[in-house]
Amino acid sequence: MKTDILFDVSSPGRKGYSLPPLDVPERDLRDLIPPDMLNEADNHLPELSELDVMRHFVLLSNKNFSVDSHFYPLGSCTMKYNPKVNEEIARLRGFAEIHPYTPQEHVQGALELLWMLEKIFVEITGMDRFTLQPAAGAHGELTALLMTRAYFAHKGEKRTTILVPDSAHGTNPASASMSGFKVVQVASNEKGHVDCADLEKHLSGDVACLMMTNPNTLGLFEPDILKIAAMIHQCGGILYYDGANLNATLGIVRPGDVGFDLVHLNPHKTFSTPHGGGGPGAGPVGAKGELMKFLPLPQVRKNEAGGTYFLSYDEPLSIGRVRAFYGNFLVLVRAFAYLMSVGKEGLREISEVAVLNARYLMKALAPYFHFPYPGPCMHEFVASAKDYKTRGVKALDIAKRLLDFGFHAPTVYFPLIVEEALMVEPTETESKKTLDGFVEALKKIHGESRENPEILLKAPHAMPVRRLDDVTAARKPDLRWNPDEHH
Ligand SMILES: Cc1ncc(COP(=O)(O)O)c(C=O)c1O
Repeated sequence: MKTDILFDVSSPGRKGYSLPPLDVPERDLRDLIPPDMLNEADNHLPELSELDVMRHFVLLSNKNFSVDSHFYPLGSCTMKYNPKVNEEIARLRGFAEIHPYTPQEHVQGALELLWMLEKIFVEITGMDRFTLQPAAGAHGELTALLMTRAYFAHKGEKRTTILVPDSAHGTNPASASMSGFKVVQVASNEKGHVDCADLEKHLSGDVACLMMTNPNTLGLFEPDILKIAAMIHQCGGILYYDGANLNATLGIVRPGDVGFDLVHLNPHKTFSTPHGGGGPGAGPVGAKGELMKFLPLPQVRKNEAGGTYFLSYDEPLSIGRVRAFYGNFLVLVRAFAYLMSVGKEGLREISEVAVLNARYLMKALAPYFHFPYPGPCMHEFVASAKDYKTRGVKALDIAKRLLDFGFHAPTVYFPLIVEEALMVEPTETESKKTLDGFVEALKKIHGESRENPEILLKAPHAMPVRRLDDVTAARKPDLRWNPDEHH
């Protein structure tokens, strides 16, 4: 159902304010403001009461699909519920109102938080040191690959190639190519894991790094990870961990312990920050051993003697700055608050429940979908709707129809190696009741695809807008009211 915009409900003379009676002589504005600064054009402002405005925005907000209002099973993008206390803490004036130029002596608490957060990330991942500066996962990838380039340049080795599995997130090859490397794809085997025989074929003295997501974007843990690490290290390369899927392994496996040399994390997914619609995020990068020297500057250090914290610029091999100032600080505050509230045992439980929920859902959906990679899955899985195609129905139609049942659509058409992919990640914060409701909706959709596929092809039916042209909607959003079109 369409919602009228404020201009449509405007009524001449209606207003939402009341001023006390004037107790000074009235003056003409023209006497007070120079003519060249006075705007006498009709500004076309809507005239409304406070209640009109309040109802309008509350109604609009109710049309929003968000993790606070709907189940949001967005595979690969981990939209889990974030406790509001983390938000409250990020809004404390002492954090939210720090100016980036505030002298270090005045922001000791903020520096201490960053220092402690780095220590926690080190502990969780098994790395030696972190930078908290990168502003997103993809930015972390870029940072790590620039470090890789600097590392080999320093050693006097000319390595030109980054290996990326065919199941990888699109940001991996993009970051590799942006940092000046050639990208070579490594095939997955029939089980959805990195094909070690194919990897072997690509190994040479040219290989700088293998980028791996573990569990990978099919939701599968790489069983050969130790062997792969040994293969890469034997040829002198670096093993990189795309940590976007860390929600599956917290407190269970540390990338540093299975041979990864560089990692990036996505705190906006794993550690609490609402990030739908493109931000804000963070992409801390962790490094081991020799690679630490190439981390960006400045780094937060503790003056052990005085117990104070400071920003160190003293690292001659550093790749330098990757971002203005010190990163998306408030995302890091939320991550810190989250980690403090769940604690060590809580972290492990998060991953155990995330995996349990995904496995429960995958099993429950088995009668209705084809699963090219049966798993066992970790925190997410990829179903294929290829059988629906015989009835003219595509993954996109299923995703659109789910909106009518009150569920956000899962990620579709990714990873590319699954035909008509529907990628589902329930996360640990959803109850069995919600998961059962989701299965029920997909069961109904399965029935509709047999009995009346038209319903699916025309979905959504219950939304304010129906099918949009995805590209035009994203590139040219119609957000502006134009008075000429309304008069
Ligand atoms: C596996 C994987 N790697 C990298 C990224 C990139 O992270 P960001 O969106 O923060 O740039 C994502 C994000 O969706 C991802 O799922």
